[in-house]
Order: sequence, then structure tokens, then C-alpha cells
Amino acid sequence: MKIAVIHGPNLRLLGHREPDIYGTSTLEDINADLQTEAVGLGVELETFQSNHEGELLDYLEEVIPRVQGILINPAGLTHTSVSLRDGLAGTGLPVVEVHLSNPPAREPFRHRSFVAPVAVGTVAGFAKNSYLFGLRGLVAHLQRTTEEN
Ligand code: DQA
Repeated sequence: MKIAVIHGPNLRLLGHREPDIYGTSTLEDINADLQTEAVGLGVELETFQSNHEGELLDYLEEVIPRVQGILINPAGLTHTSVSLRDGLAGTGLPVVEVHLSNPPAREPFRHRSFVAPVAVGTVAGFAKNSYLFGLRGLVAHLQRTTEEN
């Protein structure tokens, strides 16, 4: 079983970017912790980051045949992008949305997520653990739905 881990805009700056909100872990730290978690869960990961909406959409198109699920932090595009929402829905794959911070507890413009309605679930507010909890949730979802079929 293989999962695509997608990081949206500005997440390459993690560790330096507003550490009081996003913590001090870098994107490399998060990917390394996810990799350890994936080994424990018996799944493979591939990771992708882009600051460009179009590149994220191109990646979604081409990754479909290689993976069974998507773990994504859509970052700022969460709150703005119909195209990303449509691209995720268009994969036909289960999607789990994660956030380091808890957007509903922040500024009003962060309260709406275009991604949440096409996700199996959302994990937010647990800093880098949001990714680890999200991966566990996605794998459990895939195991359950695979057994049911
Ligand atoms: C974020 C929350 C978003 O509102 C913000 O635009 C981000 C990061 C998070 O992980 O907490 O870039 O997705």
C-alpha cells in the first residue's frame, strides 16, 4: 500500500515560518517522522511539496495509478482553491486533510475549507503530530474499506 503525502504552499519554510504557530519542526523532520510511522504501519510513502497550485494539480493527475490514498496539508489553498478541491475529488482516492495549527480557531478567513468536504477526515491543531495521526487514520480507513470489498 502506498500513500502520497502532499505539502502545499509555504510549507518548505517550516521551522522558520511563524514558529509560535507552526512549531519548530522543519518539513524534513516531518517527512522523516512520517517515514518512521509508515514503516511501523507497513505502508510506503512518496512526498511532494509545491508552492504552485498548477504543479499540485499536475502531480495529483499523475500520481493516481501509483497510490491508494492521499495525505495533504493544502496550506493556504485550503481556504481558496476550488481547483485543488476538484483535483482531489477527481482522483477518486481517499483523502485526509491535515493542518499543524487549528484553522477554525484562527482568523475568520481560515474557517472555510474547500478540501474538508472531499476528505475522509481532517486532523488539525496537533503540530507535526497532525500528520502522524492523519496517516494512521488514512491507513485504518484503507484497511477497513479493503476488507469490506
Ligand atoms: C496550515 C493552516 C493554513 O491556514 C495556513 O495557510 C498554512 C498552514 C497549517 O498547517 O496549520 O499555510 O495549513
